[in-house]
Amino acid sequence: MALYSEKVMDHFRNPRNVGVLEDANGVGTVGNAKCGDIMKMYLKIENDIVEDVKFETFGCGSAIASSSMATELIKGKPVEEARKLTNQAVAEALDGLPDYKMHCSVLAQEAIEAALKDYEENGKDK
Ligand code: FES
Repeated sequence: MALYSEKVMDHFRNPRNVGVLEDANGVGTVGNAKCGDIMKMYLKIENDIVEDVKFETFGCGSAIASSSMATELIKGKPVEEARKLTNQAVAEALDGLPDYKMHCSVLAQEAIEAALKDYEENGKDK
């Protein structure tokens, strides 16, 4: 059996929404101290909708696939929905991750949480 699903490989090879969002009004960076991987999320929120989202991930293939899938899951969605995105939902959308790679999907959830927090605290009037 393949270790990684086809979806994981697809999002790793062709990650969606990679890059920097110059006019983001919510930005969050998180890292995992153990593996050293870092993820940065940029959100452009307007009228409580995630109008645009981009990410930069310095990390493993599962972290790249997780951030790519996470951006796809929240793009165009209400902020409320983005807030509820769990790492399990990200992993499920990728047709699963190996147990020891689940923390990579946690990084995606945390990066979005951090970006939303930044939006709440600093970004609303930007
Ligand atoms: Fe740490 Fe994937 S190995 S994020």
